[in-house]
Amino acid sequence: MANVTSILKKRIQNVRQNFLSQKIDCLLIASPANISYLTGFMGEDSWLLVTGRTNILITDSRYTLQAEKQCPNSKIYVRKGRMTEAITEILKKYPDVRTAGIEDKIETGIYKTLKRKLPVLTKPVNHIVESAREIKDYLEISAIKKAAQISKTAMEKILKHIRIGMTETHIAAMLDYEIKKTGANPAFETIVAFGTNSAMPHHSPTLRKLKKIDTILFDFGAKFNGYCSDLTRCFAVGKINDFYAKVYKTVLEAQTVAINMLKAGVDAKEVDAAAKQIITSEKLPPYGHGLGHGLGIDVHEQPTVSYMSKSKLKTGNVITVEPGVYIPNKFGIRIEDDVLITDSGCEILSQLLKTDNVPLLKLA
Ligand code: GLY
Ligand code: MN
Repeated sequence: MANVTSILKKRIQNVRQNFLSQKIDCLLIASPANISYLTGFMGEDSWLLVTGRTNILITDSRYTLQAEKQCPNSKIYVRKGRMTEAITEILKKYPDVRTAGIEDKIETGIYKTLKRKLPVLTKPVNHIVESAREIKDYLEISAIKKAAQISKTAMEKILKHIRIGMTETHIAAMLDYEIKKTGANPAFETIVAFGTNSAMPHHSPTLRKLKKIDTILFDFGAKFNGYCSDLTRCFAVGKINDFYAKVYKTVLEAQTVAINMLKAGVDAKEVDAAAKQIITSEKLPPYGHGLGHGLGIDVHEQPTVSYMSKSKLKTGNVITVEPGVYIPNKFGIRIEDDVLITDSGCEILSQLLKTDNVPLLKLA
C-alpha cells in the first residue's frame, strides 16, 4: 500500500494535470479542506500555491513548526507581511508563470485584490480539488471508519448516564467530552433535541430538561485525523407513543430502501426519490433537506444526494443516508449512517446499533 507521502504527491500531480485544460500555469488554493487534502496541513490562515514544478505552503510564524511536521512534500514560506505580498514575492521566482488559477471559493474582495496586485493574469477556477476529493482512498476510508467508531463508542457510553431532568446542552457536552477524550473533535455542533425541538433538523441544544416521557434525537460526529463521521439516532424515553413508533419504522424503511439501492452508477436523485416515496406512501411529510451528502474532510462535501443531484454515484464516494420526517410542534425523526459506495453495492462505515423498532430508554 502506498504511504502518505506518495499519496500526497499523487494528489498534487492530479491537480497539475488540469493546468493545460484550464489554461493556467499555477493554482492558488485558500480552502483549508483542500489544503489539508493536498499537503496534510491541519492549520489555518495559510494558502497553497501549486506551480508546474513545486508546491508552496504560505503560512506565518504561528504555524511554521506545524507545517514542517505535517507537510512532507511542500516547501514552507513563512510570510511576515500580507498574503498578496508573499505571493507576489514567490511568483517573481517563477517567470514562466503567466496565468494563476485562483479557487473561486475565495471571497470576491480578496479575488479583486489579487487580480489588481499579482504580477500575473488571474483566472477563477472551480472544483479541481473538490472533484478529486469525491473519491476516497484507503487512508481516507479508514479515517472515516475510525471517526464513526469513535462516535459509536461515545454514544454507547453516554446512554448509560442520561437521567431525567438533564438538559440538551448537558447531554451534548457529555457526547463531546467522550469524543474529545479519544483525541478526536466533534465534527460539527452536536445536536441533542428533545421532543418538539427535534422537529427542527438543525436544532441547537438548549437548557430544556428531559421529561419522564419524552423523545431524544442525537445528530453528531467525530473528526479524526482530519476526517468526519456524521450519525443520527432517535430514542423514546419512558414510553413509546404509537405515532412516533410508526414514523420511526417509516424513516427506517426509507433509509433501508435507499441503502439497498446504493452502488456505483446509480443516479443520486433516484435514491432520494425512492426514500421519499416510502415516506409519502405512509402519508407523512418527507424531509426538505437532501437524503445525504458526501462526507470526508468536510462534513458536507460532494456528492450531494438530493432531488437536485445531477451525478451518478461512483466507487469511492462516501455519503450519508439520512431520511427524516419532521412534524412541527410534535417531533422529528431522522436516521443517519455513513456509507462507502462500491462497484457492487455499498459498505456501511458507521456500525452504531439500529433497532427495527423505536429504541426505548428507561431512565432514572
Ligand atoms: N448532521 C448534520 C447535517 O448533515 O447537516
Ligand atoms: Mn448529515
